[in-house]
Amino acid sequence: MNPLRSLFPEQGSTMAGEVDALFYFLSIVSVLVAGVIGVLLCFFAVRYRARSNERTPMRGAGAAPDAIKRIEALWIFGPFLIFLIFFYWGASLFVSFSTPPPDTMPVFIIGKQWMWKAQHLGGRREINELHLPVGRAVKLTMTSEDVIHSFFVPAFRVKTDVLPGRYTTMWFQPSKVGQYHLFCAEYCGTKHSKMIGTVVVMEPKDFQAWLSEGSEGSLAEVGEKLFNETGCKTCHTDKNDARGPSLRGLYGREVRIQGGDTAMADENYLRESILDPRKKVVAGYQPIMPTYVAQLNEEKVVQLIAYIRSLELEQDPWRAGASDAGAEGGTNADQDTDASVDVAIEAGADQEKSP
Ligand code: CUA
Repeated sequence: MNPLRSLFPEQGSTMAGEVDALFYFLSIVSVLVAGVIGVLLCFFAVRYRARSNERTPMRGAGAAPDAIKRIEALWIFGPFLIFLIFFYWGASLFVSFSTPPPDTMPVFIIGKQWMWKAQHLGGRREINELHLPVGRAVKLTMTSEDVIHSFFVPAFRVKTDVLPGRYTTMWFQPSKVGQYHLFCAEYCGTKHSKMIGTVVVMEPKDFQAWLSEGSEGSLAEVGEKLFNETGCKTCHTDKNDARGPSLRGLYGREVRIQGGDTAMADENYLRESILDPRKKVVAGYQPIMPTYVAQLNEEKVVQLIAYIRSLELEQDPWRAGASDAGAEGGTNADQDTDASVDVAIEAGADQEKSP
């Protein structure tokens, strides 16, 4: 076994090998260059040392001008080429790190002083643990309830800052069953060093079994309940005369907003539209939606987003069979909502004033 390997954390993801290869390359080139410079330094110090009464001939004395030009060209283009290799290699790794493959498994992560909370689409939630199936690309959508944290799994060679007020994402594909350290890699207060956890990578069938234990319905179902309780559906009714735009099929689509701009309806857009609805108002609608900052914490926002996502994925395995029933039930319930619309809007208006 490579003795250098024992200095590194285990390679637990498909990317780990690629990151290590680049790191080895950088280290080897650095050591070689530093070595050559060090040896030349000693050699020149001796060879061209000042002698008594005699001036050492200056630059290039005795060498043909052409030879000097060739040496200079080598000195300029050699390192340039090496730096281009660094650039190309690093940039292509960076691009593949920031472009998740199409079929990723989404998991939501919320950091707070001083713990990691994870919510799976299937409904299970966990703290300071993250269970994942082996061989499946995972995309984490992460936010913080307070200060900046950083989600770091050395064995996967991934690290991404977790920021309050927005979602950051990262993806990776666990390649080996096992348990791996999870760290917070951004100083976030006195117990920063205690903000640690375990990533448990399991066989897919074990993961499915784990996922179905102790779950109170999928994240989208929890979100749907919240959607109804919070009064969202009084305006987002899917009908033509609704006060708010329909959310069906919204996720992942371009939205036309007032002023002629468009916005991509991703997690960040949905979050912003729930918490700061007047920032990007959908074209053709009035800016009447109140903010929900006071009613919803980050976990609830994630649940609502999971529900809104599911409105597109009718065949989503997480919600198999649930979506049709939900839609039917929604139509009946709409009958009694007209009266409550005004109440909801007033309540919202009060809320805006209160802080
Ligand atoms: Cu969270 Cu350090």
